Amino acid sequence: LEIDLDESSTDMGEYQHYMIKEIYEQPSVVRRIVQNYFNHDKINISADILKDIKASDRIYILAAGTSMHAGYVGKYLFEELTHIPAEVHIASEFAYHTPLLTAKPFFLMISQSGETADLRACLLKTQKLNYKTLTITNVKTSTLARESNYFLELFAGPEIAVASTKAYVAQVAVLSILCNTLSDQNIDLIKELTKVALSIENFLATQDISSLVHDKITKRNCFYIGRTIDYYTSLEAALKLKEISYIQTEGFAAGELKHGTIALIEEGTPVIALISSKEISKNTRSNLNEVISRGATTMIISLANTSQESDDIILKDVHPLLTPMVMVVPTQLIAYYAALERGNDIDKPRNLAKSVTVE
Ligand code: G6P
Repeated sequence: LEIDLDESSTDMGEYQHYMIKEIYEQPSVVRRIVQNYFNHDKINISADILKDIKASDRIYILAAGTSMHAGYVGKYLFEELTHIPAEVHIASEFAYHTPLLTAKPFFLMISQSGETADLRACLLKTQKLNYKTLTITNVKTSTLARESNYFLELFAGPEIAVASTKAYVAQVAVLSILCNTLSDQNIDLIKELTKVALSIENFLATQDISSLVHDKITKRNCFYIGRTIDYYTSLEAALKLKEISYIQTEGFAAGELKHGTIALIEEGTPVIALISSKEISKNTRSNLNEVISRGATTMIISLANTSQESDDIILKDVHPLLTPMVMVVPTQLIAYYAALERGNDIDKPRNLAKSVTVE
C-alpha cells in the first residue's frame, strides 16, 4: 500500500477527527487526480477500457452506499457526455436478481474499499456470464481491483472515517474524466477540475456553518431536496447526515415531496434545498415555499450563478456537470457539526463498518 505522507497520512494532525481532515483534503484530492490522469495531452486510461465501453450499448453501474450515489452522478455523466444509456443498481439486489440485460452490456463497479462483499457477488456473476468489468476504487491492491478486468484508481489517499467524503468527490472526478474522454464534447477538465478544487477550498476557508447547523438542524428528522443532478447530491447528503448524527434524513426529488411526504412536515422540520442551476432554481424554490407555509425551517445551498442574496450557503460556480463535487461539501460539514453537537462518535458511528465484507 502506497501512502502519500504529505497529503493523506493516517495521522490526524491538527484535526479533531479523521472525517473533518478528509473533508479538508478534498481540494488536494481533486488536484492529485488531475495530476495522475492527465499527462501533458495524454490521458492515463487504457485504450482497452475505452474500446470496450464504446462497443457497449448500455453501462450497468453497480455499487453500495456512498459509492452508489456517485454512481448516480456517473449515470448522468455517461448519458450527457457519451450518449450511452446507463443504469445504476444496488449491488446487493443485482447479485440476486439480474435485470434484463442488453446485447452488449458493460459493467462498472464503484467501491472505495474494493472489498464490499455484495459487489464481489456481482463480479462473480458478471464473470460467469462472460462480461467485462471495470472497477473504480481507492485501493489498488483490493479484491475487486485484482479480480476485475480493468480498474481505475481514485488517488484519494487512505479514507479512515467510516462516513465517506473524499472518496465520493474522487469518484465523481474520475467518472467525469472517463466520460469526457469517451465524449466528443472535450471539456477542458484540467481547467474545470481545478476550478472545482478552488471552489471547495474557497468555501472551506470562508464559511463557518456550525452556527447555522446549531440553529436549524434541531429535530429528529430532516429532508434534503433537489432536482436533476442536485437530487443525486441530496441522496448522498441525506445518507451522510443520518449515518453520523442519527437524525432520520431523506433525500427527495424536490417535485416529488408534495406527492405524499409533505405530510411529514411540521413546525420546525428542517428542509435543505440544493440549487445548482438556473433551470431548476425557480421550481425548487417554489417547492421550498410549499414547505415553509407548513412551518418548515429551511436552508438553501446554491451556486453563485443561481443564488439569491438570502441563500444560506453560496459556492463559487463550477462546470454544470461537476456541481455534485462542490454542492456535497457543505452537506458533509452539516453532518459533521450535527454529529459533533450530539456528542456522537464521528469517525466510528454506531452499527456501521468502513467496509462490509459480508453479504
Ligand atoms: C459501507 C460504508 C459506506 C460505504 C459502503 C460501500 O456501508 O459504511 O460508507 O459507502 O460500505 O463501500 P465501498 O467501499 O464499496 O465504497
